[in-house]
Amino acid sequence: MLQSVLITGASSGIGEECAVFLAHKGFRVFAAARRIDKLKELTAVGSGRITPLQMDVTDKASIDNALKIIADEGLTLYGLVNNAGAAMMGPVERLPLDDWRSVFETNVFGLVAVTQAVLPQMRAAGRGRIVNIGSLTGRIASPFQGAYAATKHAVEGLSDSLRRELVPHGVKVSVVRPGAINTPFGHHEAEMLNKYENDDPYGDQVRAFKAWFSKQHPNAPSPVVVAEAVHHALTAESPHSRYTAPFKMSYALALRNLLPSGVTDRVLERVNGLDKFRKK
Ligand SMILES: NC(=O)c1ccc[n+]([C@@H]2O[C@H](COP(=O)([O-])OP(=O)(O)OC[C@H]3O[C@@H](n4cnc5c(N)ncnc54)[C@H](OP(=O)(O)O)[C@@H]3O)[C@@H](O)[C@H]2O)c1
Repeated sequence: MLQSVLITGASSGIGEECAVFLAHKGFRVFAAARRIDKLKELTAVGSGRITPLQMDVTDKASIDNALKIIADEGLTLYGLVNNAGAAMMGPVERLPLDDWRSVFETNVFGLVAVTQAVLPQMRAAGRGRIVNIGSLTGRIASPFQGAYAATKHAVEGLSDSLRRELVPHGVKVSVVRPGAINTPFGHHEAEMLNKYENDDPYGDQVRAFKAWFSKQHPNAPSPVVVAEAVHHALTAESPHSRYTAPFKMSYALALRNLLPSGVTDRVLERVNGLDKFRKK
């Protein structure tokens, strides 16, 4: 029988690419998101192996409904790809607390809710794979990404605990950390900065940062580099605890780990075009 995998946030970008990629590799894919119309378009390209499921990861009832549809088919999930994610941009001082809460609801509590709902069946089967989509921002936080970076740092931490808790239960946990990837996400992030462009006292910095940031995603790699890492995490006998996609971004992480924060700050400022704002 085909191995079944549930992918959250599969109506766009990385999740959509993972759904098609894994279906072509022979997985039975349950592609979940809120926009069911977008998901239905996937059925035509998934070699008949993609089932769309409406799911809002912030809504427990909707998670339970989706899982019931899978259970009613008599299937046990082998894999869960926690990919659903929301963007959030703005200066830490200015971003309203409701915005902080909203991005945590999706990126952290939503991920935990889906994981909690799926784990009993994986434990009962004595096997399974959980792949959490983190971000390079879960290790290197740019300015004006504080809330989003906090959620992705949280994903790193909770994934470490989960991986260690699940060793005796046969369920393996990996984090895949994309760098900038060419999906609608980056455009959405850049637009979120509009609100702060003329906002005292950060407006000048925000405008300079946005000028750099807006150029990153359109020229970034395709989401297929993430799908390849997810596929490895689902199929390798000993999956890595962490993947960086594309791989070359691992060098940025290695430098971040080696260099003192003060040096990393200056390198990032230079890259982001924010060095002119440094107070002498
Ligand atoms: N693109 C990048 O450069 C990049 C870099 C690092 C990490 N990531 C991470 O990669 C993941 C996917 O991002 P992407 O680039 O593919 O973005 P995207 O194209 O904007 O897709 C985001 C997906 O998340 C879904 N989603 C959002 N809120 C949801 C909710 N409450 N319940 C269920 N689904 C929800 C959206 O579907 P609906 O709106 O239909 O629900 C959509 O399918 C995210 O976790 C993101 O943080 C992206």
